[in-house]
Amino acid sequence: MGSHEGSSCSRNERNIEKGAEALSPGLERRRYHARVIELVPFEESHFDLLIQWSPSAEFLLQWAGPGLDFPLTREQLAGEFAGAARPPRARHPFAARATDSGRIVGHGEIGFVDRRNRSARLRRILIGPAELRGKGHGEALVRALVRFAFEELDLHRLELGVFDFNQAAIRCYERVGFVREGTLRESRRRGDEWWSSCVMGLLRDEWRPQRS
Ligand SMILES: CC(C)(COP(=O)(O)OP(=O)(O)OC[C@H]1O[C@@H](n2cnc3c(N)ncnc32)[C@H](O)[C@@H]1OP(=O)(O)O)[C@@H](O)C(=O)NCCC(=O)NCCS
Repeated sequence: MGSHEGSSCSRNERNIEKGAEALSPGLERRRYHARVIELVPFEESHFDLLIQWSPSAEFLLQWAGPGLDFPLTREQLAGEFAGAARPPRARHPFAARATDSGRIVGHGEIGFVDRRNRSARLRRILIGPAELRGKGHGEALVRALVRFAFEELDLHRLELGVFDFNQAAIRCYERVGFVREGTLRESRRRGDEWWSSCVMGLLRDEWRPQRS
């Protein structure tokens, strides 16, 4: 964990930001997304990062939904992913690695793979630590997951759930092409509050892969 967490991603990001000054924002973003993130299989050595990036019960519910309990522990994560790699695989959890630095900067999963209907759910999307958010990593991660789902798993449809207050996540998914399909009103309880979530979907025919 420590080797990834302490490494110097900031140098590369500064270079990217510097490049953005000279180019149109759209052009720089396309280049950035084409090269910035690669998916690597999620494994035990990444557990501590998820624990570290999940400082409260509210935040854990926001990114992981109700399936994980706060505080996250290594034992909980080991139980959660035990057998996930055995076929037939219904879930593909990944860590997101920044290609320039080799640092792990996120997590995401294609889960609930339904072979009969060629559909699945994008879930547990997280960029960490917090200071790396809002720099395009999330969009790059989602694009990589979508590409894997459509090209490697040969799926027809992807969907996801996102709390309606999570505007950064909704914007990130919209940039990749997901559209809002509905709202599950007050579907999750957090303390005295009810949280509503949006269902978003993307069909293979609507997907426009970015080329570098
Ligand atoms: C959601 C998340 C994965 C997105 O990753 P990211 O690297 O921050 O996202 P990006 O930088 O690629 O894109 C974020 C977009 O949201 C916009 N945005 C950021 N904060 C926003 C806000 N408060 N309101 C509206 N839009 C916002 C950004 O401007 C950007 O859009 P733009 O490219 O059109 O300018 C990341 O923010 C995260 O880990 N959040 C915490 C965990 C979480 O909520 N996960 C989602 C579970 S469904």
